[in-house]
Amino acid sequence: MTVFNLGSINIDNVYRVPHLPSPGETLAATGYERGLGGKGANMSVAAARAGARTIHIGAVGADGGWACEQMRDAGVDIRHIARLTHTLTGHAIINVDRKGENAIVLVPGANREIPENALVAALAEAKPGDTLLLQNETILQTRAVEIARDHGLFTAFAAAPFEIEATNVLLPWLDFLILNEIEAHQLTRSTGKTLAELDVDHVIVTLGAKGARWFHGGQVQEFPALPVTPVDTTGAGDTFTGYVLAARDQGLPMGKAIDLAGRAAALAVTRHGAVNAIPALKEVREAQF
Ligand code: RIB
Repeated sequence: MTVFNLGSINIDNVYRVPHLPSPGETLAATGYERGLGGKGANMSVAAARAGARTIHIGAVGADGGWACEQMRDAGVDIRHIARLTHTLTGHAIINVDRKGENAIVLVPGANREIPENALVAALAEAKPGDTLLLQNETILQTRAVEIARDHGLFTAFAAAPFEIEATNVLLPWLDFLILNEIEAHQLTRSTGKTLAELDVDHVIVTLGAKGARWFHGGQVQEFPALPVTPVDTTGAGDTFTGYVLAARDQGLPMGKAIDLAGRAAALAVTRHGAVNAIPALKEVREAQF
């Protein structure tokens, strides 16, 4: 089986700061790193490191060749990433404080110019039961779910960065939805339904340091977080999503897939960066918490 991921690719500029800046404040960073990120790229690398055949659909600008190479080296199929010469790769400015919390500003760049023919060509390779993964940092999500329904794909949406309108538009098409607790409250307020009442087979609410909650078939199951000291939470949610969908795609029952994803995310927060922090499956299996 295969995970097709229509997703963003960003160049992450990461600044270590004593605290997240307040309005009007000028702050000296104590460290700076540049690396591969973007919720889409992070999820594709996580899915590939979790062992799934992973095809990324996206776009980079003239400055993004190294980003594609890094994804390829991580095991991601990059044939359907468009190289656009007239624009720049998306980038993110990420402040990370001493507790590992972050604040992110995005410049979408090529992520908002993904050619429709890249999406259509990629999904022409899909087979019934394959997974289509989407987030909210690209264009073409509605077109993608229409094609996915025609092909009988399992359709998953990581509702980040959260926008209630975008989530409501995609809801009727989804088999899997993942979002955080605050977003879940916004969604239930907007739809007037509880998460269990949504017509989505699997809903996962991530609870940060408290773990995750899975809604399925009228049941709710809690997954406590593992005890780790975070240094950088950037991309931890993306690691969780990539792992859980990759594990499910490879036949693991959802409960076991969530356990595995929780272990992967716990390891990721103990490391700096986004893609650079995503652990390999062997490390996840062997880690002692
Ligand atoms: O979820 C973390 C990611 O959000 C970063 O890698 C950044 O690029 C933004 O997309």
